[in-house]
Amino acid sequence: MATAHPHIEPDGTVYNLGSSFSLINGPELRIVRFPEGNLEGASVVGTASSRWRTAFPYVHSFAMTENYWVVGEQPLVLSLGKLFRQYVTFRKMIDALTWLPDENLRLIVIDRKTGKPLPTTYTAPPIILFHHINAWEEDGHLVVDFLGTMNGLHYTSFFFSNFKKSDTDPSKVIPDAKACRLVLPLEVTAEEATEKHQFTLKDTLYTAVRKENGELHCTPTLLSPVMFELPRINYLRNGLPYRYTYGVTGGSELFYQRLLKLDVETGKTWYFQEEGYVAAEPIFVPRPGSTKEDDGIILSSLLKLNDPRYVALLVLNAKDMSQLAKVRFTAEGDVTYPFHGQFVDPRQEVHLY
Ligand SMILES: [Fe+2]
Repeated sequence: MATAHPHIEPDGTVYNLGSSFSLINGPELRIVRFPEGNLEGASVVGTASSRWRTAFPYVHSFAMTENYWVVGEQPLVLSLGKLFRQYVTFRKMIDALTWLPDENLRLIVIDRKTGKPLPTTYTAPPIILFHHINAWEEDGHLVVDFLGTMNGLHYTSFFFSNFKKSDTDPSKVIPDAKACRLVLPLEVTAEEATEKHQFTLKDTLYTAVRKENGELHCTPTLLSPVMFELPRINYLRNGLPYRYTYGVTGGSELFYQRLLKLDVETGKTWYFQEEGYVAAEPIFVPRPGSTKEDDGIILSSLLKLNDPRYVALLVLNAKDMSQLAKVRFTAEGDVTYPFHGQFVDPRQEVHLY
């Protein structure tokens, strides 16, 4: 298994996160390096053990900074026993996913030089973390931005059975992930930290509580109260301090009907919405030669809610999310909702994310 969100360096090296299992070590998370993106020559460059011996943590994405890979081991696992049962009874594998609401989110920080996790165990409340937004190192800290929710059934919001439920059905799952930040102290081990280790970064006070078991339990900060999914950034800022992220939001609806830009420093938001349409993941494309982080365009597509053959390519100004262009298509068949998208410039030798 590998995540849908690899990282790519300017020289074309691709990193992705996969899982492995051995009888000696149990489930492990492994960072795999693909030179110039090729399978040939691929090698494992980082390994971390799962905290569970009989279950794989479900990991959807990870973050990469200059010196570290950061993996959010969320309390959502693929139980080996359930996987086997589903397999032999020809049932759907998704039902092997198990939410562990009493377990914390664990942040595994892997040193890129040694390929091994840092000795400090960082934890946070039982947050479900599908999408990392970005991460960077600053003044001896690791700043990790991501979309989080406390609802472990978040992923079932996309199930057809959930879509069919009426809006008044209390069992209907509405996506509610929000942009969050965790700041992990790198230079203070759990042993050295005071019982309640407090530190300031960018005028914000953060707290890491030392637990009896030696964990550093960190408290997340909410970057915005707006529901947020499918985050993208100007990838030239990946692993570096950044200011803007782009995503989709839907208010209380199941469908993501609005595109969103968020300033992670101020919490300011900009929106684009066309009534009656669903918006797909926004992809930031920098203007050639640009120096400002949000100098570029957003590419997305629109699907008409009552006409599955209607699709439009949308081009927005990334500065204020205003529309620059829209190209309409009528497809020959029904078009399904796309989750992730990608833009590839044929002139690029290395295609960044
Ligand atoms: Fe994803």
